[in-house]
Amino acid sequence: MEHAVETTLTVNGTRVTRSVAPRVHLVDFLREELGLTGSHIGCEHGVCGACTVRVNGEIVRGCLMLAVQADGCTVETIEGLSDSKELAPLQKAFHEHNALQCGFCTPGMLMAAQDLLRGGKKTRDEIRAHISGNYCRCTGYQAIVDAIEKVMHGQG
Ligand code: FES
Ligand code: FES
Repeated sequence: MEHAVETTLTVNGTRVTRSVAPRVHLVDFLREELGLTGSHIGCEHGVCGACTVRVNGEIVRGCLMLAVQADGCTVETIEGLSDSKELAPLQKAFHEHNALQCGFCTPGMLMAAQDLLRGGKKTRDEIRAHISGNYCRCTGYQAIVDAIEKVMHGQG
């Protein structure tokens, strides 16, 4: 039987300690153990970006990182960023530009976009490059880039 490992991390400002099987990925831990289902699971292989979260301030693929690897780390999910209002301008811009359809990619896309906004202004090509690891099957990306660009230039 798999040996569980006591793991403590701070998720959206709340310190949590759980016994976690070493094979459990961070996104599964967030969804199933903590009920934070805003982080989606698409490919489970680090390709689609649906599971994007922040660990110690850096965006990571929640399906590539084990929960036990996050021991001692600060983790931020879409729920925490939304509640903190950090995402409000982006969410408004996504809504106004119709930058989502089914919404499956949207949490990860917002996390990636917010990360980009922290780095100053970028060209449309640079925006596209930054979100190129976040797949969207619905929108064709144009509206997403429009929304990010608007916020980036203070017009969100
Ligand atoms: S589910 Fe993690 S990158 Fe696709
Ligand atoms: S809105 Fe459907 S995958 Fe992006």
